[in-house]
Amino acid sequence: MKINFAESNSVKSKPGNIIVLLVGKDLKLSTYGTTLDKQCGGSLSAALSALKKSDAPSAPISIYAPKATKVDRIILAPLGSAKELTIQSFQSLGGKLVPLANGARAESMSVLLDPIKGCILSVDDIAAHIAHGARLRSYRFDKYRTKEKKSEKPTLESFTVALTGAKAAQKKYDVLEKVGDGMFLTRDLVSEPANIIYPESFAEEIEKLTKLGLQVQVIDEPELYEMGFGSLLGVGQGSARESKVVIMKWNGLGNKSKAAPIAFVGKGVTFDTGGISLKPAGGMEEMKFDMGGSGTVVGLMAALAGRKAKVNAVGAVGLVENMPSGNAQRPGDVVKSYSGQTIEVLNTDAEGRLVLADVLWYVQEQFKPKFMIDLATLTGAIIVALGSNRAGLFSNNDKLSAQLEKAAKDTGEDLWRLPLGDVYDKMINSDIADMQNIGRDREAGSITAAQFLQRFVNDVPWAHLDIAGTAWQKRDSDICPKGATGYGVTLLNQLVADNYESK
Ligand code: BES
Ligand code: ZN
Ligand code: ZN
Repeated sequence: MKINFAESNSVKSKPGNIIVLLVGKDLKLSTYGTTLDKQCGGSLSAALSALKKSDAPSAPISIYAPKATKVDRIILAPLGSAKELTIQSFQSLGGKLVPLANGARAESMSVLLDPIKGCILSVDDIAAHIAHGARLRSYRFDKYRTKEKKSEKPTLESFTVALTGAKAAQKKYDVLEKVGDGMFLTRDLVSEPANIIYPESFAEEIEKLTKLGLQVQVIDEPELYEMGFGSLLGVGQGSARESKVVIMKWNGLGNKSKAAPIAFVGKGVTFDTGGISLKPAGGMEEMKFDMGGSGTVVGLMAALAGRKAKVNAVGAVGLVENMPSGNAQRPGDVVKSYSGQTIEVLNTDAEGRLVLADVLWYVQEQFKPKFMIDLATLTGAIIVALGSNRAGLFSNNDKLSAQLEKAAKDTGEDLWRLPLGDVYDKMINSDIADMQNIGRDREAGSITAAQFLQRFVNDVPWAHLDIAGTAWQKRDSDICPKGATGYGVTLLNQLVADNYESK
């Protein structure tokens, strides 16, 4: 679907097009609306009077083939109170319009936008976010559907926002488009089945990002063995696929810059069967999204490079497949991590933390970053606690947490901070090694997992985002069809833009 910005007087009245008008809380027509209403003999104002009486005055309404226009429909989209409208309101609106257009089998849609009195956002920001929301909702992972008929495919080819000042809107959108590209890359990677995306093929996909100016280094299994990544390698041990660690670097401050980078670390379990602590069959197919954390790190690095962010950033992903086999790790095995600490593996299904342990230690040792943020589909318990709209945040640093909470509020990618502490830390003490990989029972499952990670973090500011609930959704939302969401790309891009970029 192509996104366009046009001057408001250039909107074409032609068959196959749908015109959208936004109406304020008072349900009065805007300037453009009034002109159009006159053209079609007052049918828009008549529709609004009818809407006022209805019990759902906020739902978009359609006026079919309005007289004296050649368009298929005019949609009137009521907005809430102007001062409460946020970036998310406009992204949601743009997103909602896409299925409406496809449902109407329209080829093009034009949103006629007037400045909105009382709204804190400028008209070009509003236009850019409507367009961004529409594009995010138009995402489709359909490469494996070979038999879908044209009549079953979406029809909407172009989405235009028409306003006075199209150039300024386009400029705002250009940045959002790069973030969208990153999210789409994440969604693509996460949607791929595990016979297509496994550590080696995943690493190859990441290597393609050198075209954006990223430096990519792939560390192969024999090297990881030499380096002593015993915790990560134990997880991949049962798989026929070789484990990999991939490091991405974006030197936005120039290759000579000595400034410490910021760092993002992702769990990349390309399939999680649970290993010898095998998961039940029902729903196991979902565990192809257990590389969601690394999918987000890759999408984020692509977004930062795409928009040429003025920051030095490192992305590191630990890629493994967790399989049961004659060679697999057993419950009770003791492994030695890259940090030197030993781990008793009591449950082979608590594997994400084992992967992250080595990568976190490596990143802090190698890059001495300003902060480290890891993302992982780490625990089922976080879904029980927070559901699928908020990620769990764990951190050793109040400042970094506050910055993340602010970015979450501004982007709508929500999170909720949960506690860490000695009481929880003690729960992972082992009888025969430095620690064990699960708590004594199911108590505080997401916290003990975070506590485990913290044992691989020294005094660098660190945050862990448990995205088991947010990386994948079972239902469509306004800006995302069901499936992979790309959660975290927008959030972390915002964190960087607000706090870590030189102006
Ligand atoms: N990948 C899972 C967590 C998960 C569950 C992600 C559901 C997405 C949706 C993780 O590796 C896992 O299996 N965790 C166990 C930990 C337990 C054995 C302590 C869990 O959550 O049950
Ligand atoms: Zn697992
Ligand atoms: Zn897992």
